[in-house]
Parts: sequence; structure tokens; C-alpha cells
Amino acid sequence: MGTERNNSRWLFHLAYWAFVLVGYGLLAYLVQNRQTGSLPWPSLLVFFAFLWGADTRLGESQASGGRVMSSKCIVLSVIALFGAAPAAVMEAVSALVRGLVQKGSSPRKAIFNSAMLGTAAGVAGLVYEALPWSDAFQGPLFFIPLSAAMLVHSVVNQFMLGVIISLDTKLPFERVYRRTYNWARLRALLDLPFAAMVVLLYMQAGAWTLVLFLFPVLALYQSDRLYQRNKEAHINSIAALTTALEADEPYTHGHSYRVAKYAVRIGKDLGMDEDELETLEYGGLLHDIGKIAITNEIICKPGRLTDSEFEVMKTHPTIGADIVEQIKFLSDATELVRHHHERPDGRGYPHGQKDGEISLGCHILNVCDAFDAMTSDRPYRKALSVEQAMEELVRYKGTQFEERVVDCMLRLYHQGEFNNMREMRATTIPFQPNLAEDEEKQSIVS
Ligand SMILES: [Fe+2]
Ligand SMILES: [Fe+2]
Repeated sequence: MGTERNNSRWLFHLAYWAFVLVGYGLLAYLVQNRQTGSLPWPSLLVFFAFLWGADTRLGESQASGGRVMSSKCIVLSVIALFGAAPAAVMEAVSALVRGLVQKGSSPRKAIFNSAMLGTAAGVAGLVYEALPWSDAFQGPLFFIPLSAAMLVHSVVNQFMLGVIISLDTKLPFERVYRRTYNWARLRALLDLPFAAMVVLLYMQAGAWTLVLFLFPVLALYQSDRLYQRNKEAHINSIAALTTALEADEPYTHGHSYRVAKYAVRIGKDLGMDEDELETLEYGGLLHDIGKIAITNEIICKPGRLTDSEFEVMKTHPTIGADIVEQIKFLSDATELVRHHHERPDGRGYPHGQKDGEISLGCHILNVCDAFDAMTSDRPYRKALSVEQAMEELVRYKGTQFEERVVDCMLRLYHQGEFNNMREMRATTIPFQPNLAEDEEKQSIVS
């Protein structure tokens, strides 16, 4: 096991340095073969400023799941207008300085990102230059090399990133790929027409035309902020509702929050994409909302429930799902709320679904829900220790709890991911939206 770990670290370092050498080697080659005398430096500075702006928070868009103004669009237009060398140098310098100065990343990470983006831009630029029609700006033909350059840029970028994350986190390449990229990223195709517009306007009237793009970008940015604020208002109302529900019963205080947090962590590890994780987070926060309709005598009963009381208790997923379904914004989480008590052996409720019918998200909530319940004090028993709760999960693996989810939770636990569980239980937790983002795995990239 120890040798295996050393081997994979060794491989990681090998890949890291190979990528860095290839990246900077390519930059040196490109710069050497390019006559710098003919370059329009003032224009390049304007493009560089835009590249910088696109890579900062201004360019980020939560609403569209991508960037309002993408750095790739700028890089593509620099490739078409000035060639591979300036594009690669710009990307590499921008990534390096941004990483070190703005983000405070470690030099190791900044150097890697710089080499990776430099390589992607350099190779894309070489492909562009090698193809016909690379200066056919009179008609639409330059779209052909431009599309090829965009494709190559993505492939190089994703390949290097995927390999290095996979070696760093020891997750299979394919799973890393699925986690980092999903179909929503197809929106990045918008970079192509945007880059073409930048190129054509520049050819027509010079670098100042880039300023024109600021207006649609700012408009998008503004609407994006509105969208974000709306979303937060929604979630905060939901959180307030959950808190009110749990405030009544000291034993479940913070339960939904923790279930959401565990669930997102596990979902991430099992390869769910951003959208699925967001829905899972809402599902976790809302899973017991249906208990609002159940009397406190049953919920707070200090002892085992009678059969008839349990029948009443079993209605909470359906009631909860009916409530959540009404809220359009959250309706994706309906199924998660409805089926969070289903079990792989079909003995869960409300529908007694079998393993194959239950979604991964429901399986995850089921495990996290049980885990948090076991590790919390209840009116009729003291909390189990984390170790004891894990043993219980393993004992009922395959019957009450889904195998993959239990294995994943166990793995994360052994990796020390859930070390702060007890503190999370002991303190009052202020609600923070977007849990999905605050637990980024420690990796040298991203
Ligand atoms: Fe529940
Ligand atoms: Fe629960």
C-alpha cells in the first residue's frame, strides 16, 4: 500500500514536471520563431487587459454556469489576429501573475496553470496557423481554423488538467473528467462567434472596438448579480423555514444543514456534476420539511413510536415533496425529498422502491440522514461515536444503505474529510448558500 502511494506520487511529480517543461519549452520555441518587430504592442496591451479582466470575478457567471466574458474568446482572437506566440505568452503570463498575486496560490500551482494555459494557447495557435483560410477574413472561411483552434485548446487544457488532478487525487481520469466538465460547458461554444466578432471589428477599426464589448458584458454581469441575489433570497427563506422547524426540537438542530453538507461532499466524490450537486444540496436542506405537518408529540416522543405513530411519521417525505414541488425554483429536489427514506432492499418508504429505481441522490441522502441521526443525541439515546455509526452503516450495507455511498463515506472518513463533524454538531451553524463550492478538494489545480 505504502509503495503504491509512493509510486503514484512519483508519477504525479513526473507528469507535473513534464507538463511544465513542455509548456515553457513550447513558449521558448514560439517566441524564438516570431519576429517581435512587427507586433502592434499597444493593441496587444489592450487585449492583455481584457484577458485579465475576463479571468477575474467580473467574467464569472453563476447564472449561465460559465463565464460572461471568457478568456478563451480573447485568446482565440489574439491567435487569429497576431499568431500563436503572443497568445501563448499572454496566457502564460496572465495565469502566472494572477495565480501568484491575485489568488495567492502556491508557486507550484501557479506555474502549472501558466504552463498548461500557455501550452493550450500555443498548440491551438500552431494548429490555426497550419490550416488554410487562417487569414480569410473577407468571408466566413476563417471560422474553420478558428473552430479547430478552439477544439484543440479545450482538448489540451482538459487533458493536462485531468491527468494532473487524477494523479494528485488518485481518482480515475474518467471520473475527474466527468466531475470537471459536463454538457453545460457546451455553452463555451459561444466563445467562437464572440471571438469572430472581436477579430472582424479589430480588422475594421482597431483595438478600441474591444471597448464596445464591455457594454453587453456589463449588462450580462448585472443580470447575473440579480439572478444570484434572487437565488440567495430563495434559499435563505428555505433555510429559515428549516431552522424554524428544527428550533422546536433541540435534538435535530442543524440536522438538515449537516445532511446537505455531507451529501454534497459524497456526491462530488461519486462524480455528480455541478447541477446535480446543487439539487442535492437543496434536497438535503429540505428533506425533512414535511415534518412541519407532524405533531410534536410524535416528533419529540422520548421513546419508540407505536405502529400507528410510525405510520404518521412515514407521511413526511410525501408531504415534504408536495411542498417543495410547489416552489418552481426547487422542484428538481422534489424526488430527493420524496424518496430519502427508500432503501436498497425495498423495505423503505413511502413507495418501497427497489435498488434500481432509487436515484443516487436519494441513496446519498438516506445514508447521510441516518449517519447524522446516529451521531446526534436523541430523546431516547445518547449519540453514537463516529466510529460506531460507520460500523452500523457497514453492517446494513446493501440492505438499508447503498453500497457505493457507504464505501465512499468510509473512504472520505479515513481520508480525514469528516474530522470536523463533531464541531459541526456542537455549534450553531449559520446558513451559507452554495455549499457545493466551499469544499473544493485540495488539489494543486482549480
Ligand atoms: Fe426524513
Ligand atoms: Fe432527516
